[in-house]
This record gives sequence, structure tokens and C-alpha cells, in this order.
Amino acid sequence: MSTEKLTTASGIPYTHHEDSMSAGARGPLLLQDYILHEKLAHFNRERIPERVVHAKGTGAYGTFTVTHDVSKFTRAKIFNAVGKQTRVFLRFSTVGGEKGSADTERDPRGFAIKFYTEDGNWDLVGNNTPIFFIKDPKKFPDFIHTQKRDPRTNTKSPTMMWDFWSLNPESLHQVMFLMSDRGTPYGYRHMHGFGSHTFSMINASNERVYVKFHFRTAQGIKNFTNDEAVKMKGEDPDFAQRDLVRAIDAGNFPKWTMYIQVMDEQQSKTYRFNPFDLTKTWSQKEFPLIEVGTMELNEIPANYFADVEQAAFAPAHVVDGIGYSPDRMLQGRILSYPDAHRHRIGANFEQLPVNRCPYMVNNYQRDGAMALNGNGGSAPNYFPNSFDNIRPDLSYKEPALEMDSNIADWYDRNGPGEDDHYSQPGIFYREVLSAEDKKHLVSNIVGAMSGIEGPKRMEIINRQLCHFFRADIGLGMAIAQGLGVTIDENAMKHS
Ligand code: HEM
Repeated sequence: MSTEKLTTASGIPYTHHEDSMSAGARGPLLLQDYILHEKLAHFNRERIPERVVHAKGTGAYGTFTVTHDVSKFTRAKIFNAVGKQTRVFLRFSTVGGEKGSADTERDPRGFAIKFYTEDGNWDLVGNNTPIFFIKDPKKFPDFIHTQKRDPRTNTKSPTMMWDFWSLNPESLHQVMFLMSDRGTPYGYRHMHGFGSHTFSMINASNERVYVKFHFRTAQGIKNFTNDEAVKMKGEDPDFAQRDLVRAIDAGNFPKWTMYIQVMDEQQSKTYRFNPFDLTKTWSQKEFPLIEVGTMELNEIPANYFADVEQAAFAPAHVVDGIGYSPDRMLQGRILSYPDAHRHRIGANFEQLPVNRCPYMVNNYQRDGAMALNGNGGSAPNYFPNSFDNIRPDLSYKEPALEMDSNIADWYDRNGPGEDDHYSQPGIFYREVLSAEDKKHLVSNIVGAMSGIEGPKRMEIINRQLCHFFRADIGLGMAIAQGLGVTIDENAMKHS
């Protein structure tokens, strides 16, 4: 191998890399040793802010392949031919912990996919759960504060978590999922992924349907029990990262099958609950899964920071044939993510290789820190102009969205018609979980609630117990018993 020259960042060959220049063998260092400054100054700037949520994660490139024709629902080019392949980048993550936190913490897992399509990058920024804790984005910062550290003790606080959940009963469905063993998945390969929100699909005739995206793992669901997850935190806090890298490096490429559930506009108006409520799932009996394609991850990025840390996903990024819905959480996220990226990475975050659209990008945005893409060269930087022929294209226009009201107000998300927080958690407990899963769910909840402390301890426990009882009396009794709280079972049955 021929030797290459060591240079400064500006490419000037340098002679001494390990010894600083000094006045005499034992004297002080000289200001003119520029490389010393360059090294120390660059080192001081190696960190960018970690993501405010989902800070710990891992990512991989892969391929999405269409296996079934869904063109009657969508004109999105990514789906326009069976066999068509699209490159993807997927970042998995935990939610509440910092960048160095353990991979096996009890937490939802992020499942964020960037599809590099001909019509621009489509980001489906989902989780391993089909639902979420809240249904109005205004509650998000408060909710996340309870998942982070107590302002005084700087430790995680079960008191804050259960106080918030017990005061926001719409969280129950997701809390049950989180407290089951699905809250501690065995790495990232053995879990399903969900777009979670309701999205639109728009077809060539400009007709809209509403859809939910599902990614079912081909590796099978596999979870840690609580004890195993706690043990793994000590043995290998980077378990999920290592597991993904090892599998892909060994050619054992993880795969998921993409499905959609479809509801037409008319059904969305008359469905028995709000189909844009993120705390609820759509019944698969009524809206069966329709197979679309497969996704395989087959390449670990060569450099973690370049591609995984700098990756920027945004639910705002939908492409022609896929659209938003009135899901309020989705609406809130449309604003939030690009704002986060501008803060975390900078105004030109879209120009970094992992975020860049590999196809055409044409606009009049110019300048800003780190303008890497040639900055438009000498082309006009304003619109309209008499020199280029870049024009908006009306063929991409979506059908208008029909509103059910034109009265702007603050509507209570837990008010009439929105306040059934208990039926689906009850079904999850009775019909989805096995007898073993049920036992684990109860012991995980009892373990987690045992951490509630302070003067409001019993108030919080009792309030949360009421929610569990409303979902299922047997579940409520089992948790109460585990916590040593005495309940009059007959009174519960008759209440
Ligand atoms: C990351 C906000 C709800 C999934 C983030 C980030 C913010 C954020 C600011 C960090 C972005 C960055 O720095 O790159 C919000 C708000 C929400 C919300 C305001 C509610 C209104 C959700 C929901 C899901 C979700 C419902 C899943 C269905 C994710 C994922 C990431 C993330 C997967 C990590 C993306 C990555 O890997 O870079 N969220 N979030 N979030 N969020 Fe949310």
C-alpha cells in the first residue's frame, strides 16, 4: 500500500502529528502550532445535540420490493409496478433514554423509514406500536418530560410517569402494550413496525382512501422478559445495535412484510369511533391487512455519525399518492420534525448524503450554514424569473379535503365520542395476550408502579387502578393484589 500524506483539514501536508511544537525540549508550547489548535478545536465540536427523543438508535440501508399491486389505492410511483425496488434507510431507536442509554430499557421502539423515491424522499416515522400515549400534540412535551429525568433528583421517576398516565386515561392502550413483554423487544429484528397514524392514499383518478401501514417481522416476534432485559442492560447496553450489525454483516438480512389497512372516506365518516384517533387501532376483521411488499435491510452504513446520527426523518415528507389525514398527532408532527432538524443539524440538513433526495431537487433556497450542494451555482435564485423553466406541476395536486366543520375552537379530545379509553385495552388483555403474557404484564406493571413514591403515592395508584379495572376487572384485581391494595371485588362488579 502506498503511503499517503498526513495533512491539515485544508490539505496542507504536515510533519509532526504526535508532538506539539515547544520552545526547547521542556519549554511551553508555541501558538504557531496550528495543527494542535485545529485538532483540539475540532474535537470540541464533535457533538451535535442529541435528538430530544429517540436519542439512542441504530440504522441500516436496504431495499423495498413491491410484491402486490395496490395501484387502485395509490398512484405513488414507489408502488407502481410489482417487482419494483426502492432503496431505503431505516433507523431504529428507543425513546426516553439519552444517547448512551441501554438498548433493553422498557420503552416503545422507533421504526423510521426513509424511502428514496423518484418523487422525493418519503419518510414513514413510526414505532413498533400501532398506537400512542396521547392524541393531541399539545400534550407531547409534558408527556416526554415525565419519561425523562426528574428536575431535582435528575433520575427517572415512576411517580411522574404514572401521575401523567393516570391523569390521561387515553394513554392506557399504549401503557398496556409498553408494560407487556413487547415493551422489551429482543433487539430490533424481532418486532413489527407501524406507521401508526392514519394516512391518505390517492389514486390516479384523484380518489382518496385512508390507510394504516403495518410492517410484520419475518424473524418472528421475540421479547425479553423483564428480568432478562434488566440483566442485559448490565451485560451489553448496546445489545440491539450489536445484534443488527452482526446479523447484517453475516448476510442474515432482516425482513419485514408491508401491509396496509384501507378505509374509504365514507366509512371514515360513519365509523363507530374517530378513525384519526392515534390511541386506537382499526379492527383487522373489519379492515383486513392487504399485502404490499417486502423490506430487507442489507447494509450497515460505513460511518455511524455520518448516516445514522445525521439522519433526519420528517412525517411532513410524503410523496405524490400518499397524503396526510386529520389525525391531530400527525398534524402536530408535520411542524415539529423539520424544526428539530434545523436546530439539531442546521438549515441545510436536507443536503447531507443520508437525507439528500437522489433524484431531482429544484428550488430557490440558497445559502445558510454548510451549503454543500453547489448552492444553485449561477442559476437564478428567485421565482418567477425569465431565465429558467422550473415550474410547479399541477398534476401532483391532491384532491381537496372535505371538512366536517368550519368552527375553530378547542375541542376536548376526551369529550363525548372520544372518551372510550377502555374497550381496546380490555380486548388487548383478554384476546391478544397469552396466559403467560398476562402474568408478565401484571408483574411488570406491579414492578413499575411499586416505584411510585411521595405524598401522592396512593392517590396516583388508586387513579391508575381505576383505569385498569375499567379495561378488565380481572386485570385490575391482579394488579391491586400485587401492589397490596385491598379492593372490595363485589363493589367493583356492581360499580
Ligand atoms: C423523533 C417530536 C410523536 C416516532 C422525534 C423528534 C422530535 C419528535 C422533535 C426528534 C427529531 C430529530 O431530532 O431528528 C414528536 C412530537 C410528537 C411525536 C411533537 C407528537 C405530536 C411521535 C409518534 C411516533 C414518533 C406518534 C410514532 C408513531 C418518532 C421516531 C423518532 C422521533 C421514530 C426518531 C426518528 C429517527 O430515528 O431519527 N419526535 N414526536 N413520534 N419520533 Fe416523534
